[in-house]
Amino acid sequence: MKKTLRHFIIAGVCLISTYGCGQKNIQTQCEPADLIPAPVELAVNPGSVSSDRLAELPEKVKISEKALLRRLEGQELTDWQLKSAYWLEIGQKGIKIEAADQEGVFNARQSLKMMASLNDTVACCTILDWPRFRHRGMMLDESRHFQGKDFVLKQLEMMALLKMNRFHFHLVDNPGWRLQIDAYPRLTQLTAWRPVAYFWDWEIDATGGDFVEEGTPGAYGGYYTKEDIAEILEFAAERHIEVIPEIELPGHNYETRIAYPELACSLKNGGSDKWELCPGKESTYEFLEKVLLEVFELFPSEYIHIGGDEAGKDNWKICPDCQARMKSEGLTEVEELQSYMVKRIERFAHEHGKRIIGWDEILEGGLAPDATVMSWRGTEGGLKAIAQGHDVIFTPTQYFYLDYKQDEAQYKAVGKYVPLEKVYSFEPMSEGISEADSHHVLGIQGNLWTEHVLHDWHAEMQLYPRVFAVSEVGWSPAEKKNWPDFERRASVLSEAARNWGYVVYRPGLTDENGLVE
Ligand code: ACM
Ligand code: ZN
Repeated sequence: MKKTLRHFIIAGVCLISTYGCGQKNIQTQCEPADLIPAPVELAVNPGSVSSDRLAELPEKVKISEKALLRRLEGQELTDWQLKSAYWLEIGQKGIKIEAADQEGVFNARQSLKMMASLNDTVACCTILDWPRFRHRGMMLDESRHFQGKDFVLKQLEMMALLKMNRFHFHLVDNPGWRLQIDAYPRLTQLTAWRPVAYFWDWEIDATGGDFVEEGTPGAYGGYYTKEDIAEILEFAAERHIEVIPEIELPGHNYETRIAYPELACSLKNGGSDKWELCPGKESTYEFLEKVLLEVFELFPSEYIHIGGDEAGKDNWKICPDCQARMKSEGLTEVEELQSYMVKRIERFAHEHGKRIIGWDEILEGGLAPDATVMSWRGTEGGLKAIAQGHDVIFTPTQYFYLDYKQDEAQYKAVGKYVPLEKVYSFEPMSEGISEADSHHVLGIQGNLWTEHVLHDWHAEMQLYPRVFAVSEVGWSPAEKKNWPDFERRASVLSEAARNWGYVVYRPGLTDENGLVE
């Protein structure tokens, strides 16, 4: 019988052995070399253990930095690498784990869980392992289509198995606001709901469509209450995943302007830009600060993502409030007005112990002093930010946009082509980043925008197996990269994931395969 997600989540590590996959690995036993992400060091020892017995074997856990350092035999790890690192030994009589921190123990158990899930038999083995990058992320766009809590929990479970540790939660955007904000109830009473479900049918001429009040019969949408978020955060924290919320500014705010029209520029003739907040008015900052205060209270993450991408600036050239602000601040270009806003929000974030991440447009007009840049329009923005001494997360469209199609004939995806091998081929340090600057590369992330993705199964088939490759690029050493071997491992893990109830892409997969909910 196929195991459901609920089984998977509730069972946790204790019941790993019940998740043996239906179509077994053709190898006679699972070896550490079958893991995704590939571990740094491994050795296969004599003997094997049946996957069923693995959960019953005694487990000896030692949390000791000293012990782990002995295992590392002089290899130098950064503090954050040390925290995630683990030594794992599977023997016929028991399992031994050594780590400097609970996070390392958790990672060891994820390796154990994956190995037990891929075959009936697991080789006795030793693994010494740690991550290459500290940000190993996945982004989900909940605005264009709303997947909801159960979907998110299910993906967090898979992220944990893949040792991914940052969930970027894109909660607000033009087609729907998805987070309860007590100070501004219309954000969810009105602009979390629309009469039309499918994004492309809703959006008119790329300028947005209608919203309807919560409770309207047949309305499509939804949002997270603070209780929902607390549940997601607890689930994520148990899996050592940090949830980074994104509150977009100043662009991608069509919905915000419908709920609170006074946040737009006050232009006599309307103006051409339909998505932007007015960075001239003081009241815009009052709104953003009140929203952010609630977000800061809710999310314990060190970082908050403030968007910053694709803001039209034509209105700002003629808006009296924007023009007055530019004059009083001595700004000559509208790009500097966006930069003024981002810097001001960064100061506010710092006052509350938070740091900001923004899409690479935040470089234009001048970077905020401590901002981390998420480089999405290729790697150029990231390289510029590093040259200015800033931290960077690489999410270039050509490699990590998981809304793009993964084979030439894929069902409903953005037309550009990002197959599994392309994702796997990304090398974050290949662009001439010096050794001295390498610490500025925080890591990498796969992004799932959901313009085309109405159904959960569709979202999963966009994610998998490509997220497996994101995980390995983020965790495993560059010198371990081996496409044919990864392709083999991804195929084994794909079968296992299907058996756990995930939809994993294969050519020809469409709603005609009976996947529609
Ligand atoms: C983006 O894809 N607009 C960040
Ligand atoms: Zn304005």
